[in-house]
Amino acid sequence: MFLQALKGFKDVLPGESEKWAFLEQTARKIFQNYGYSEIKTPILEKTELFARTIGAATDIVEKEMYTFADRSGDSVTLRPEATASVLRAFIEHHLHTLQPLQKLFSIGPMFRHERPQKGRLRQFHQINAECLGSSNPYTDAEIILLLIHILKAFGLADIRLRLNSLGCPACRPSFAAAIQAFFEKRPEGFCPDCRRRIKTNPLRVFDCKVERCQEQILEAPTIPDFCCPDCRRHYHAVQELLAPWDLPVQLDPKLVRGLDYYCRTTFEVSAVHLGAQDAVAGGGRYDGLLKTLGGPDLPGIGFAIGLERAVLLLGEDQQWETGPFVFFATLGEDARRRAFHWVQSLREQGIPAEMEPEEKSLKSQFRRADKLRAPLVVIAGSEELEKSRAAVRIMENKTQEEVPLSELVDFIIRRYGIK
Ligand code: HAM
Repeated sequence: MFLQALKGFKDVLPGESEKWAFLEQTARKIFQNYGYSEIKTPILEKTELFARTIGAATDIVEKEMYTFADRSGDSVTLRPEATASVLRAFIEHHLHTLQPLQKLFSIGPMFRHERPQKGRLRQFHQINAECLGSSNPYTDAEIILLLIHILKAFGLADIRLRLNSLGCPACRPSFAAAIQAFFEKRPEGFCPDCRRRIKTNPLRVFDCKVERCQEQILEAPTIPDFCCPDCRRHYHAVQELLAPWDLPVQLDPKLVRGLDYYCRTTFEVSAVHLGAQDAVAGGGRYDGLLKTLGGPDLPGIGFAIGLERAVLLLGEDQQWETGPFVFFATLGEDARRRAFHWVQSLREQGIPAEMEPEEKSLKSQFRRADKLRAPLVVIAGSEELEKSRAAVRIMENKTQEEVPLSELVDFIIRRYGIK
């Protein structure tokens, strides 16, 4: 019996993988401009790391993690996000002793057992950034500008940045108590999940997508009203630093995010064309988290972009250069052997070249060249070889030129230069 991929797990096939390569390469280049270095962490970690980082009373930890006992009986989890692992590695390798400010990016798969739908998978990929070591609003502004820079370089239009402050351990408890009291007055207005959240983690109620919960939230108190003077100053400074850059920003006092580690600045970028799962990226500050995990008392801020969602937003008219620049259509073993050398020589000089390895008719070779959208097709059969010339067809205008074999490679290189 044929076995299909697991539900919510997706193959990235040729045609789409070029889009992925474009996104990853674009992000890597921009990260370099902002002083970021790559970090690669394992996909599997101790379950406790995620429970302690993301928060035991979050949807991710409560119901979405791929957790199992390994062969030694230890509870391990496929990472549902990258921040926890990056912080664990930061602490384990004492990275703060190498650089007081560490800027780290990573790209890779994450796993969450959610209900699959458009833009929501069980294995998905993130481009993740973490900046560790500064609590200054300049860092918040820089990381938000970096995120928008990357998304704009992807060519994403119609994006919206929502910004909020979640306060700090000094001011959040009074806010949490106020909303808990507010929600408890109207328990019948909430879904069963939220009725439970009101007791365990009232902030999470803001995240609920159920319509009747959303209606209750409309009138609820908001976090910025409860922020202490330091948090207010911080939030204003971030807004002031972002102001000159004409970002599509909107202050959203109800934005909470689905992970518990955030404090102060939090943000999410959404895109209208994504439908229900409209968040293409999200992030925020998490001062205090490193210390909670047993590391130095250093602040941090970061974001993650969902790669699958970014791919969905790429313009259909964008051209992805994948095919060869030149295709060699040959007839006879002699011509094929010559073509084999030309193809290799061109490839080594940086020009994408292709040929047909099987003995096939010219017609079928042209069909393949057409499919590959090669701008040039070199035709070499025994007749051409005898005359020491090859016919080069320029596919764009269907014209043909006779080129001496001794000049063939140079001819192609010249045309590639003016492509
Ligand atoms: P997050 O909001 O959970 O944040 O995820 C970031 C992005 O990953 C989302 O905006 C979305 O584009 C994508 N994403 C999340 N879940 C799925 C899914 N099931 N299928 C497809 N895409 C998905 C974080 O993960 C934080 N660790 C971000 C961060 C880094 N905060 C600070 N540093």
